[in-house]
Amino acid sequence: MNPDPLDFLLADLDRLLAEDAKGARVTRLLAEYAQSGSDDWRRFALFEANYYSRNLIRRTELYELIVLCWSKGQRSPIHDHASQRCWMGVLEGTVRETIYRVREDGSAPPAVGPAREFRAGGVAYIVDDMGWHRIEPVGDGPAVTLHLYSRPIRECRVLDEASGTVLTKRMSYHSVGGKVLVPGSSATNWA
Ligand code: SIN
Repeated sequence: MNPDPLDFLLADLDRLLAEDAKGARVTRLLAEYAQSGSDDWRRFALFEANYYSRNLIRRTELYELIVLCWSKGQRSPIHDHASQRCWMGVLEGTVRETIYRVREDGSAPPAVGPAREFRAGGVAYIVDDMGWHRIEPVGDGPAVTLHLYSRPIRECRVLDEASGTVLTKRMSYHSVGGKVLVPGSSATNWA
């Protein structure tokens, strides 16, 4: 059986991240995949009814590659990336990224600059020096995004907007390798 484009992407990520390649090379690689029109990511794109879902494709010591599925109204909390690098390639639909500067005391999060929208094929990049961010789908249609974290993120800080406090949250997956872990469970388990 011939390898899928996703298999090539994973092999390239293994190599590039082991070489500690510059972020721009990784961005190019993700953009090539997101713009290739291949749809071998679809078997990982498992939506969840109540929350955006996090679906693991692969996790190694150096990185994790995750498909996130967003239905209308599902958005991430404002969060950091635990000092790791984060790339987001858009596979389907359009998403908005808003960047915030969150103070340790959790006080009012002013958005830093205008929100940016990314359409299918676009790639965003963030590290904690650039701020915290929120991701949400734009318009009525769903969106599917491909997230690469290097290294993998086990927990991150989240702004609890209701209480104005900063909390540490453990990350979880809705599915691993295309198999749902606990059907009907909260996809993100942020709470
Ligand atoms: C992101 O940080 O890019 C999306 C949020 C997540 O990984 O759950």
